[in-house]
Amino acid sequence: MSKITIIKKKIFKFNKKIYVSGDKSLSIRWVLFSSLASGVSKAKNILVSEDVLAALKAIQKLGIKVILKNNECKIFGKGIYGFKYKKNITINAQNSGTLARLILGLLVDCKYPIKIIGDKSLSRRDFKRIVDPLSKFGVNFNLKNNKNLPLEICGTNNLKPIKYLENRGSAQCKSSVIFAGIKTRGTTFIKAKKSRDHTEILCKHLKIPIKIQKRKNYDLIEIKKVKKIKKLNYKIPSDISSGAFFIALTALVKNSQLIIKNVNINQSRIGIITILKKMGVEILFKNKKIYKGEKVADILVISPKKINPINCPTNLNTGAIDEFLLIFLVAAKANGVSYFKDLSEMNQKESPRLKWGSKILNLMDVKNIVTNNSIKIFGNPDLKINKKIIIKNYLKDHRVFMTSVIAALSFGGLWHIHDNNSIHSSFPNFLKIINQIRKNG
Ligand code: S3P
Repeated sequence: MSKITIIKKKIFKFNKKIYVSGDKSLSIRWVLFSSLASGVSKAKNILVSEDVLAALKAIQKLGIKVILKNNECKIFGKGIYGFKYKKNITINAQNSGTLARLILGLLVDCKYPIKIIGDKSLSRRDFKRIVDPLSKFGVNFNLKNNKNLPLEICGTNNLKPIKYLENRGSAQCKSSVIFAGIKTRGTTFIKAKKSRDHTEILCKHLKIPIKIQKRKNYDLIEIKKVKKIKKLNYKIPSDISSGAFFIALTALVKNSQLIIKNVNINQSRIGIITILKKMGVEILFKNKKIYKGEKVADILVISPKKINPINCPTNLNTGAIDEFLLIFLVAAKANGVSYFKDLSEMNQKESPRLKWGSKILNLMDVKNIVTNNSIKIFGNPDLKINKKIIIKNYLKDHRVFMTSVIAALSFGGLWHIHDNNSIHSSFPNFLKIINQIRKNG
């Protein structure tokens, strides 16, 4: 049953070392690649959250055996044509856009129609953006309002390679097309606006024939069909998008310091760090290493004496897309007006997040001017909250919930934050780590 989290007291200075859970994007990608691999793939530190469990259930429905014990997982792949396509399969992607969109790329050759459903939040999101390119491979779809879930995918055994221009910066769409390309004879060409590149890195690691030319704003990707994918043993590094809540908390709580261990610091994911550094927060990477093509490091954050406002360069948007709610909180405490633009993609997330960012600031009495794709935030270095704030009806967007907790701990006030079970989609340990940080400073 969903409960309300009540926060009455803000947090005071702390100096801590924490571990956050495994990266969600990498966990889901590991599941999907392993489901196509030949042999048994093993993962350690897999994120055990609802989004990832939904991915495991999805491949089980396709006849793939899975064993999950704590955060260790084994997947018994049967090769790239190893799925058992039966009549009347329904895959419930629950809250996960990544699962719903990526798995469509694996199902382009399905023998019978497969239905994809999701929760209320996922059912309002845009699927036309992925149905359009996959249709060009020769795949057929039925979908609600030509745009939404539930949808039905009807695969083909006559896939044709495509040329695809991805210009939103959507890693989900790019990755889904890469998966479809892996099953398609010939060469699939993708010109993709820069976005997280975990799928490409895994392809390279697995020796899947992928060519990538990096340009300033775009990547040019060529992908060819493969006969076999080798098994993938992987120790999943921690999720910077989960670490981000504590990075923001440290930025907002005076005289504090935090180390987050073993985090994936892929260049395409560290937008929040670049932005907060520009705002005056000291953030350092320690013990840097490369793990199977991904950069990993411990992140040290030191709270600043003062926070500078920012006119945020739009080329940082994609790399911080999941973290802007937190960046807005930091801007609320800046010494001046911050401006963030070109952010319409935020409203395509689990909830219309740009709107929610503005709403949270309004509830905190922080002046802001929001449009469909931008927000101006009038910061106040002395911001304190002395009233009751209720957060509810936000489509159970996990990041809205967790951002509200960070706001409550940073600025004070009495907060009633509804639907705390929302954290289970990406970060079930979130409240436990908050308690660790609260204990003895
Ligand atoms: C993700 C890509 C991003 C991000 C999401 C995870 C991924 O979405 O917001 O949380 O793992 O590929 P888009 O592809 O819609 O930008």
